[in-house]
Amino acid sequence: MTTKLAAEAKSYSEAVAAIDGSLQTMDLDYLDLMIIHSPRPWKAFHESDPYFEGNSEAWRALEEAYQAGKLRSIGLSNFEKADIDNILASSSVKPMVNQILAHISNTPTELIQYSEEKGMLVEAYSPVAHGELMKNQDVIHLAEKYGVSVPQLGIRYCLELGMLPLPKTANPAHMKNNADVDFSISEEDMAILKNMEQIQDYGEASRFPVYSGKQK
Ligand SMILES: NC(=O)c1ccc[n+]([C@@H]2O[C@H](COP(=O)([O-])OP(=O)(O)OC[C@H]3O[C@@H](n4cnc5c(N)ncnc54)[C@H](OP(=O)(O)O)[C@@H]3O)[C@@H](O)[C@H]2O)c1
Repeated sequence: MTTKLAAEAKSYSEAVAAIDGSLQTMDLDYLDLMIIHSPRPWKAFHESDPYFEGNSEAWRALEEAYQAGKLRSIGLSNFEKADIDNILASSSVKPMVNQILAHISNTPTELIQYSEEKGMLVEAYSPVAHGELMKNQDVIHLAEKYGVSVPQLGIRYCLELGMLPLPKTANPAHMKNNADVDFSISEEDMAILKNMEQIQDYGEASRFPVYSGKQK
């Protein structure tokens, strides 16, 4: 069971309250993984203030909950290199996960490598590009070549890159399909998929900060 520490909780006391609140809401003694949802509160997602101090405070609360056995593992989400460095500079427990937007046509290679170098498992959220991948003719053709669905190709692509894909579906048949990814993609096709023109339009989800361009 994974849950997220709200992007807005950027003080030690807010983070402690949010962690304990999640445990109470779910009526659990511990959670498997808790991640800071974003280095910046959503309203400031594209702003330049890095919230370094707030993230260090939130991390301290996560570390203490980890050491107390309330959280089995702790990590980050949507953290770029500078945000990761800030956590590493003052942490006693290193982050175990970085959950980031990564899918065919949008592969932040440097961030993936950096997160891995720092000992994190990279979780790829939206591996089907929030459904948009299924509209891309080039991806459809490659999926046909492998005799798989577009979501299967998208999920396998993330696995080939050493990431843990997190597909979402409300349909049990799709869930079964998404788990059936025991095939491999050739190096040539991986290169094509990596270098494909980036999907920019996430449909109605484009209004969410994570789908509307990266902060600089
Ligand atoms: N950390 C963050 O900031 C962050 C941000 C966004 C999302 N996430 C996480 O990432 C996970 C996935 O997110 P997502 O919804 O954006 O992305 P997604 O998995 O890329 O796309 C989901 C869409 O793909 C469809 N789909 C999935 N498998 C399918 C299949 N086999 N055949 C046909 N359609 C299929 C789903 O429709 P059906 O339901 O009809 O199958 C749904 O419309 C979520 O659990 C979410 O918590 C994290």
